[in-house]
Amino acid sequence: MSAHQNSTPSHNQLDTKAEAWSALFSEPMSDLVKRYTSSVFFDKRMWQADIQGSLAHAEMLSVQKIIAAEDFAAIQKGMAQIAAEIEAGSFDWKLDLEDVHLNIEARLTQLVGDAGKRLHTGRSRNDQVATDVRLWLRGEIDLIEGLLKELQRSLVEVAEKNVDVILPGFTHLQVAQPVSFAHHLLAYVEMFKRDAERMLDVRRRVNVLPLGSAALAGTTYPLDRERVARTLGMEAVSQNSLDGVSDRDFAIEFTAAASLCMVHISRLSEELIIWMSQNFGFIKIADRFTTGSSIMPQKKNPDVPELARGKTGRVVGHLMGLITLMKGQPLAYNKDNQEDKEPLFDTVDTLKDTLRIFAEMIGGQLNPATGAKEGGITVNADNMRAAALKGYATATDLADYLVKKGLPFRDAHETVAHAVKLATQKGVDLTELPLPELQAFNPNIEADVFEALSLEGSLNARNTLGGTAPAQVRAQLARNKARLG
Ligand code: ARG
Repeated sequence: MSAHQNSTPSHNQLDTKAEAWSALFSEPMSDLVKRYTSSVFFDKRMWQADIQGSLAHAEMLSVQKIIAAEDFAAIQKGMAQIAAEIEAGSFDWKLDLEDVHLNIEARLTQLVGDAGKRLHTGRSRNDQVATDVRLWLRGEIDLIEGLLKELQRSLVEVAEKNVDVILPGFTHLQVAQPVSFAHHLLAYVEMFKRDAERMLDVRRRVNVLPLGSAALAGTTYPLDRERVARTLGMEAVSQNSLDGVSDRDFAIEFTAAASLCMVHISRLSEELIIWMSQNFGFIKIADRFTTGSSIMPQKKNPDVPELARGKTGRVVGHLMGLITLMKGQPLAYNKDNQEDKEPLFDTVDTLKDTLRIFAEMIGGQLNPATGAKEGGITVNADNMRAAALKGYATATDLADYLVKKGLPFRDAHETVAHAVKLATQKGVDLTELPLPELQAFNPNIEADVFEALSLEGSLNARNTLGGTAPAQVRAQLARNKARLG
């Protein structure tokens, strides 16, 4: 006789999965297989969603007279106690009960008897887990949205103080044209704004109720699925039971949006790392985000941005994992889907931590005594300016100047190339060439050329929508501040 056949469950208690499964099984699961198949030690983090979903289901069952009102009352009472136990850390999670769903249901039955056993009427773990993941992820998306706003606010605050700070803009990491530091930071605000929009768009498709799909084909009980959706604040009810229990495209989509957000963080990290190297010296980040070296006493390493760049690989890896998890699955539910959780959870954790830490590293921390933020990045405007003065960053401005004097742009471009060549040979900036030498390239050049060739002149001239002219940057700052509240 096997252990399963021997086990005689008490009437209000399921202690092991074997007991949950019925008498059909003729041999016990080995410990290795139990460990391999169980998910409780990671999916227990969805316990609140699981209880919330169960209560909405039970309430509907009682309204539909599928279970008695007393049963619903007992389920409510039992769930309140379970929630208190989990919060207090006294809930006894059992590996034998495989996952969060069976653990909670078993405890409920232990507490309230038959009412607990009625909870699973018209429901399967397949639609239950799909509902739980969606409910849980919806809450996390809302937190991420808030954190993305915080990060944007930090960037805007630093930008506001640096509209007139000029640094070289790069293409191919070669000095290209001077830009306002605020303009540079606002580029990231645009990226994080789109990331937040993507999150909200994903949220609409996450916020759909699969419960009522049952195992795969729907159920014989007269469920009111719309009522459950309303109770749970979900925007729609899934329209096909096979699809409802099986697809995890919403998790893939979320991880794709998270990956893009991390890619933006990673690009910003790369810039911070470059800017704080001694060869650039554009910024400093506060010591609490850096570490020293065990051998080189002079070192301060940008560990946080480097780790964020590294963790981007991890999140993109989760996207690959999830999308590959889905690709071979026939309809409907397959146990493969249990593997959706760890990558999804880790994506959420990594993204949230990263957003939080970046908002603080860039914008600083609020000092409640002064009401001001402290300890954000420090900007070295002199070093930025010196770098912008190297590499003929205003050469395009000389070409534009000549175009305004009537030269076709291509000819102007060629003329400036000669001027840059001469300046390079002499080891000076374009502004350091005497006027007669410049006039030798084109007689229309006059003394006002030096204003056009200055960093400020170059910025001011780029006064088109989205350009780096301080007037434009101030308009963008105002727009973003109004939007971010
Ligand atoms: N722990 C399972 C999961 O995460 C719950 C659903 C199990 N369903 C089943 N038919 N075995 O997917």
